[in-house]
Amino acid sequence: MENLEIQPKSVKMTHLSWPIIWWTLMFALAYSVIRYHLMGGVPWKDFPFFILNKAISLSALILLAINFTLGPLKNLGVGISNRWMKSRRLVGIVGFIQVFIHVFMSFILFKPAIYPKYFEEAGTITLMVGLSLLGGVLGFVFLWMYNVSFNSNFRNDKDLLKFITSRKVLLIAMLFTGGHLFFIGINGWLNPAGWHGGMPPISLVGFTFFLVGYIINLAGRKDK
Ligand code: HEM
Repeated sequence: MENLEIQPKSVKMTHLSWPIIWWTLMFALAYSVIRYHLMGGVPWKDFPFFILNKAISLSALILLAINFTLGPLKNLGVGISNRWMKSRRLVGIVGFIQVFIHVFMSFILFKPAIYPKYFEEAGTITLMVGLSLLGGVLGFVFLWMYNVSFNSNFRNDKDLLKFITSRKVLLIAMLFTGGHLFFIGINGWLNPAGWHGGMPPISLVGFTFFLVGYIINLAGRKDK
């Protein structure tokens, strides 16, 4: 790192994306391991997929919240350095890639044997899970639209491009994602006695990041 300090032109020094991404992932991993394996007694054999899916989804949510909250925070007068501001793009892209991984992993895992609480006896999903998955799918689609807009020939359609990159799309995507977390988690949130080691469920940790980020956005976003 020291070497990079004396090279002002180095791209690496102009942003903090990788440390932000790394420490966010480490936090999400540590939280998941402590809550589910150490406090909750989930067998370690479930780490590589079931628990990793939770950690990746939490990491994705925090990265997306960082991506869309730094600008509004700065507008509100909070001193955010340029290195943080310049990290937003890569942090958002990696957040989106992690959502992608979460979606793939969730599709593979989504069975009554793995998530008995999400299914009724007849094998159909509960209302809350249906609402949650609807939020997840719509959140994912809007996030996708937002990402794709930077790379495709949507560029030729000025109005569409203006809408998709206005970041309103990101706000819509995050709102659906908030719904996804609310409906999947609300029953567990209301039962603190069942929280492993007193630690809130990952859906609630994620929802808190979403809510704080969203409020900051509503207060500080300029292109409303
Ligand atoms: C097609 C879209 C999606 C599907 C099918 C989906 C599926 C799921 C499933 C099945 C769970 C429960 C996981 C568990 O209890 O272990 C879950 C939780 C979660 N999802 Fe999604 N999801 C989608 C989109 C998203 C998006 C866009 C985000 C944004 C980052 C997201 C973030 C989360 C988080 C943070 C949790 C909480 C994990 C937990 O409580 O353990 N999901 N999702």
